Amino acid sequence: MMMSRCPNQSDLPTTHRVFLETFGCQMNELDSELIVGQLEGMGYRFTDDWKQADIVLYNTCSVREHAEAKVYSRLGRVGSRKRDRPQTLLGVIGCMAERDGRDLLRRYPQVDLLCGPGELDKLPMLIDNALKTAMADDPVNVSQTVALQGSASRRSGTLAAAEDRLEFLDLSRRFNPEAAQAQARSAYVRITRGCNKFCTYCVVPFTRGAEIHRPPDHILDECRRLVEAGVVEITLLGQTVNHYRFEHGHAVEVHGVVQPQKGRSYAGGHDRDPFTDDGHTTTFAKLLQRIHEELPDLQRLRFVTSYPRDFGNDVLEVMRDCPRICRYLHVPVQSGSNRILEMMNRGYTVEEYKDFIERVRAYLPDAQLASDFIVGFPTETEEDFQASVELLTWSRFKNCFVFKYSPRPGTPAFDKMKDDISEEEKKRRNNVMLSEQAAISRAVHESYLGSTVEVFVEGVSSREARKQRRAARDGSLGGAVSLTVHGNDINSEVAPTMSDDETVQMSGRTSGDLITMFDVPATTSDSLIGAIVQVHVTNHAPLALFGELV
Ligand code: SAH
Ligand code: SF4
Ligand code: F3S
Repeated sequence: MMMSRCPNQSDLPTTHRVFLETFGCQMNELDSELIVGQLEGMGYRFTDDWKQADIVLYNTCSVREHAEAKVYSRLGRVGSRKRDRPQTLLGVIGCMAERDGRDLLRRYPQVDLLCGPGELDKLPMLIDNALKTAMADDPVNVSQTVALQGSASRRSGTLAAAEDRLEFLDLSRRFNPEAAQAQARSAYVRITRGCNKFCTYCVVPFTRGAEIHRPPDHILDECRRLVEAGVVEITLLGQTVNHYRFEHGHAVEVHGVVQPQKGRSYAGGHDRDPFTDDGHTTTFAKLLQRIHEELPDLQRLRFVTSYPRDFGNDVLEVMRDCPRICRYLHVPVQSGSNRILEMMNRGYTVEEYKDFIERVRAYLPDAQLASDFIVGFPTETEEDFQASVELLTWSRFKNCFVFKYSPRPGTPAFDKMKDDISEEEKKRRNNVMLSEQAAISRAVHESYLGSTVEVFVEGVSSREARKQRRAARDGSLGGAVSLTVHGNDINSEVAPTMSDDETVQMSGRTSGDLITMFDVPATTSDSLIGAIVQVHVTNHAPLALFGELV
């Protein structure tokens, strides 16, 4: 079922220009895409220049203090501008809005609206209210310009309603086959909202609310429409994707219509649906299998983020047997010390994590793994830290994100544990981990020298984009635009005027998520974006392969 209009949408035509900047994870990137579709459908136009915008929106992240600091500085900037242009509307949406709540409005009076990630379907209405308030020069009625889940996000009675409204937002996603001709060939599809794990350091269960698994039919429907619109690669999103589990047989209400969820309308002619474990449950393995099987034109299927606990061999078997599922797993481990893992409430041990890695290597010898670590968690000793270094070295990740522990108000670690590792020490531990990982990443990439890899082409490389921007400034090229693909700042050229013998450096990713660059004649570069090509690897860097098109 696909609907194209949200009941909260206003019928007023609008000519307002919107600037939207996105911070944080892929969930936020997807939310921003849905917001753009929703607002464009109502006639709003988007601009890349915040100074030209009538409405400035920041889709924010709260995961670390640093992420919030960036947004506070943006709010200050827009606040100064609002002194000359008071009609500019400033909205904070996403996880920071939910975490900071009305306190943010008190400290930053220049903010006109707040919308948490669980309330994004209400954004058009909030903007509408804020615009009307501004036009009427009324004192702000906060209840009309603030939508936060607050404590409601974890109450079961409101859960079903929230599920329906948000489900509608995902289902109302706009599919534009023309856009799919170029960069929009890679898409995110949400499978799980929220998180129930409550790792002691983490804000996500508080900002995104309770874990909800989307019905498999809805996911399939969305994937199918994306593929029909020309999408080549789909990345399934969830905080802990492998915990995906949909119990069939529950009634789900979507916009007042009760829909029986007695399995899906299975057309296979068997009594028992082969995509459920027991006739009642769709597991993550079954979901992957079903997408792979039912969408043969989908060339790449990926997923993030995996949780180290309960990652069964059933998923690894499906990955092994389905060639179009990418050989890539991002499985954050956070620490190599069992004592710290317990304090983090992660629910697994180092030994269990190692067992998982060994199973991956056995089932998928060509898979690449990535991970996250937190250094300087409360009470982390040198010994705990060395255990993390050891685990990182043993695991041979293709890359790793290493974060300095950031105490987040409202989390159990913030309330109960003293942030007792100095900033200097956190920085030192961070650098040790990163340099250790750089050596491993270099070796992993080096092992591909002389081989041929399959690459999904995302755009021109950032080096190329910089070169082209410089040339554009000097007047020798057309304009350059910047775009983001899966969190990487990838830059793309618009209508360059280049001669036939010039080459440009393109960038893409292998099935194992290794960034790969190669040169092509300038005249063919546009047509390669979104294609899957073969590249012979001739060189490498710590975080990239270089080669020639085969
Ligand atoms: N759901 C994913 C992670 C989501 S948050 C998982 O459980 O693996 C992304 C990463 O941010 C985490 O893996 C963790 O390494 C980091 N992170 C989260 N909260 C943090 C905090 N308070 N301080 C430092 N890093 C944090
Ligand atoms: Fe945060 Fe843990 Fe949930 Fe990941 S699993 S989002 S780290 S609470
Ligand atoms: Fe940040 Fe929220 Fe994602 S806190 S990491 S934007 S879920």
